[in-house]
Amino acid sequence: MKFKRIPIAEIENLLPDVIALTLDSSNITDDFLDFYPGQHTTLRIMDGAEEIRRSFAFCHSPFENVRPRILVKLLKGGRASHHVSKRVIGDEVELSEAYGFFYADINAEKNRVYFLMAEGIGIAPIYSILKSILLAEPISKVCLLYESANADNIILNAELKLLADKYNNRLTLYHSIQKAGLLVNLSKSDYLKGKVTQEKIQSLFESQNFNPEKCEVFISGSSELNKIGQQALSHLGIPTEQIHCNRFYEINSSVPPSGAYGSSTIVVEDLKINAKGSQTTTILEILKLANSDIPFSCESGLCGTCAARLVDGEVEVNTQPALEAVDIASGYILTCQCFPRSKKVTIKY
Ligand SMILES: Cc1cc2nc3c(=O)[nH]c(=O)nc-3n(C[C@H](O)[C@H](O)[C@H](O)COP(=O)(O)OP(=O)(O)OC[C@H]3O[C@@H](n4cnc5c(N)ncnc54)[C@H](O)[C@@H]3O)c2cc1C
Ligand code: FES
Repeated sequence: MKFKRIPIAEIENLLPDVIALTLDSSNITDDFLDFYPGQHTTLRIMDGAEEIRRSFAFCHSPFENVRPRILVKLLKGGRASHHVSKRVIGDEVELSEAYGFFYADINAEKNRVYFLMAEGIGIAPIYSILKSILLAEPISKVCLLYESANADNIILNAELKLLADKYNNRLTLYHSIQKAGLLVNLSKSDYLKGKVTQEKIQSLFESQNFNPEKCEVFISGSSELNKIGQQALSHLGIPTEQIHCNRFYEINSSVPPSGAYGSSTIVVEDLKINAKGSQTTTILEILKLANSDIPFSCESGLCGTCAARLVDGEVEVNTQPALEAVDIASGYILTCQCFPRSKKVTIKY
């Protein structure tokens, strides 16, 4: 997994707990920072002697000529958040190439409708997708349903408003405000009170007269929003393969297997790695001990950075929310979520 040190060009405090880091990419002359809208980069940090990695979605469009930007929500007690909050302009951050299966495949010829749903900081990859559609898929239309805690807390509010004004015949913007007391800067037509529910999604979708067959859905936020969105939109007839989900955080309560397991050899075809380890540890953990260049980030099945194709052998899968059915059908596994179950397991990145 390749990382590069990139200087911070600008730091913006978007909200008291959300900052935007704009990167000075002038020294990156290759395709290192190329990405599909929706994908993320991995931030690598040394916290004392320990290396930690966290995913951050690119929050700009690859179809505009701007410097790369990521948004960071500052979490109380968060290790990466704390590190980022201490950075100043000119400091370098260590970032990876883009990864992830959550992305929009923009095609200028296509005439599609996009139904985008975001919650809080989940707007970062959705903003990249939204802007890319508006810039590079000129006959497609977009509807964004965006849930925020309150009306003063809408991340990228001004940028979204500008886009809604500029592309008023192609973009419809709805805000769902959990605590709907203060309705600063929101017109009645684009405001829904309270949390997003299945009923709200259904009535909003129907009001747009979208054809479910032509609709691509992207949902980014909590597991709850993803679940509600998936259920409501499947119910409306949108094929499952057109509903794409992105979860930033999930409490992973899985317990590692215990019992009489033996050991396995993991072969990575393209990296010429042979690593032996216990069948009670994940493929990623076995590989990390053998090679420091192995791709990974969240280690909880959410980001897809550790994905590889299973070439041969058997594995036991824990949970793979970052993969869609089509990815699984083409042989992908998340190495951070799979335990080897045959003497030899061969994978390929
Ligand atoms: C694909 C993907 C893309 C992401 N993109 C972004 C992005 O664009 N911007 C961004 O800010 N973050 C993004 N994240 C989340 C980010 O990677 C980190 O998980 C987050 O910044 C927390 O890291 P931390 O080290 O600060 O907190 P940690 O030290 O990991 O956690 C601190 C405490 O907060 C809890 N916690 C962690 N995350 C959350 C959460 N989201 N909500 C509530 N509690 C939490 C933990 O359980 C722990 O108790 C993304 C995650 C994924 C998987
Ligand atoms: S490291 Fe994130 S899904 Fe495996």
